[in-house]
Amino acid sequence: MKEITEFSIIERIQYGEHYFSLLLKHPGTLQHIEPGQFVEVAVRGSRDVMLRRPISIHDVDEEANTLSLLIQIVGNGTRQLATLKAGDTLNLIYPLGRGFSGAGQHPLLVGGGAGIAPLLHLAKHYTAKGIRPTILLGGRNEKLIPARDMFKPYGDVLISTDDGSLGERGLVTQHPRFNGEYDQICTCGPTPMMKAVARSAKMRGINCEVSLENTMACGIGACLCCVTETNDGHKCVCKDGPVFDIRGMEKWMNG
Ligand SMILES: Cc1cc2nc3c(=O)[nH]c(=O)nc-3n(C[C@H](O)[C@H](O)[C@H](O)COP(=O)(O)OP(=O)(O)OC[C@H]3O[C@@H](n4cnc5c(N)ncnc54)[C@H](O)[C@@H]3O)c2cc1C
Ligand code: FES
Repeated sequence: MKEITEFSIIERIQYGEHYFSLLLKHPGTLQHIEPGQFVEVAVRGSRDVMLRRPISIHDVDEEANTLSLLIQIVGNGTRQLATLKAGDTLNLIYPLGRGFSGAGQHPLLVGGGAGIAPLLHLAKHYTAKGIRPTILLGGRNEKLIPARDMFKPYGDVLISTDDGSLGERGLVTQHPRFNGEYDQICTCGPTPMMKAVARSAKMRGINCEVSLENTMACGIGACLCCVTETNDGHKCVCKDGPVFDIRGMEKWMNG
């Protein structure tokens, strides 16, 4: 069930210029959170930012009643959130949306830019089931692949950068291990990247789930500003997604 809660910020980590993470403690008991679900964050202190901002849940510790967010600074809202520090509070609506299925015995997780955020909780989910995922993280350069060391205990981490500053040079789909033997691909990141990953998965007959990042307002299926086209008509990314199985996403894939 969704709740609106004032979390306490217990840690803030800056990753280069563009990214930071917040470790947040629930005042009581944290609800169960599926990998791929997200929160709507209230942005206080900025007259220009009226709407909450959707942010994926990066990590969860149910015993400690904490969750963490990994945020890229792109505009007014995220710039304002970047001023928060340990001891401040943050108002969240959570848990929102439908997450990844967690299916497959040989999963490949592909993240680009801020889209790597939900993959840590997902990687931990597989590890808890005794499955070691392959995790392929991509970005334009080394500085745009934050928090990568966090993933190492939970899978085989591969990196590709457009400029070759870290890992393989090129797009994630050009990484030599992208074409390995997998039975499930889960991806989150820029739309062109996810479409390329999804088309390749389809051609190879591999199940694939994509986590869409459409612009959102209400985050609960009321305003219809986040709709995407599926084989079954228009769906709200915030309520019916953000994670969709590509078998229902032919129009999105080919659009
Ligand atoms: C389900 C979901 C999960 C997300 N998870 C993360 C995450 O874990 N980490 C992260 O850094 N970012 C994430 N995003 C993107 C994040 O919501 C936007 O970057 C943020 O809302 C931008 O706010 P802003 O005020 O800083 O930027 P603005 O000045 O409002 O806009 C800057 C850019 O962000 C886009 N944007 C603005 N508002 C939204 C919105 N409400 N929803 C989506 N995009 C928007 C705009 O199209 C523009 O390209 C996620 C988005 C969605 C839909
Ligand atoms: S954001 Fe309002 S319906 Fe999805």
